[in-house]
Amino acid sequence: MKLVTAIESMAKERDELRRAGKRVGFVPTMGALHAGHESLVRRARSECDFVVASVFVNPLQFGAGEDFSRYPRDLEGDRAKLAACGCDLLFTTTPGAMYPHGFQTYVVPDGPLVARYEASARPGHFRGVATVVLKLLHLVGPDRAYFGRKDAQQSAVVRRMVADLNAPVAIVVAPTVREADGLAMSSRNAYLSPAERAAAPAIHRALASARERAKAGERDPARLLAAIDADLRAIPGGSAEYVALVDPDTFEERAARLPERLPPTLAVTAVRLGATRLLDNLRLDEDGP
Ligand code: PAJ
Repeated sequence: MKLVTAIESMAKERDELRRAGKRVGFVPTMGALHAGHESLVRRARSECDFVVASVFVNPLQFGAGEDFSRYPRDLEGDRAKLAACGCDLLFTTTPGAMYPHGFQTYVVPDGPLVARYEASARPGHFRGVATVVLKLLHLVGPDRAYFGRKDAQQSAVVRRMVADLNAPVAIVVAPTVREADGLAMSSRNAYLSPAERAAAPAIHRALASARERAKAGERDPARLLAAIDADLRAIPGGSAEYVALVDPDTFEERAARLPERLPPTLAVTAVRLGATRLLDNLRLDEDGP
């Protein structure tokens, strides 16, 4: 696996891949890689000729007082994991290279998709995500870029950005990879104390039991939400920042009584467990993780 750390070298690699007519897959990450990230790399491996992954903890998407400085970093471990799942090139660079002195052009999502949930909980977050993702897409020039449904609002923002700005790339959104007990894998799970880690699978259970209720015929969003909320309240040391049923593409709330044949409906939540903020979501209208 090639390691590329300079912006100009990445651009050169991109130009060579393009000349060679390679079908390039790209997996952007912030590192501290786990099986969720690896599933994206394997998916890219199976669909593309050449796989690029990036590891860049993007300061622009962290708010003041968030965990940018203590975000887990393990470049050597990440290198080994990426090589083992068939990645061809790892691009990693510094904040100073990505945002040099004088940097002042941003991609700012602006509409209903960024009115609520992660967008209102973390002001500026999606501006940071959209800006870095568009820069990385320009630098890597992939045919396909891979994102996880685990961060469902982020995936929707990226899909919207690529459509709105006519970026020449196909966005693939892959299923959430979970621990055996249901907890969605996340680099931030490393922050959990043993007691918090033991409590955390209750988040997925709450969403899964809402899916069962929906399957059994419950069509009242308020009742589905109340059930999730009650389950989340029972988590020791946990508190839900938001719970909602939304359209997975637009993130508009499904507030009206749901029709008998369920439309695409995503139950989304952010739960604070001690000092850690965990995201999870589950489709109510279809099976799958
Ligand atoms: P990061 O949190 O490292 O995640 C990188 C990619 O892995 C994202 O697309 C995320 O949705 C996906 N992912 C994370 N956990 C997953 C899981 N359990 N199952 C499947 N996929 C999972 O998301 C980011 O980094 C950044 O915002 C980034 C897009 C790299 C921009 O900085």
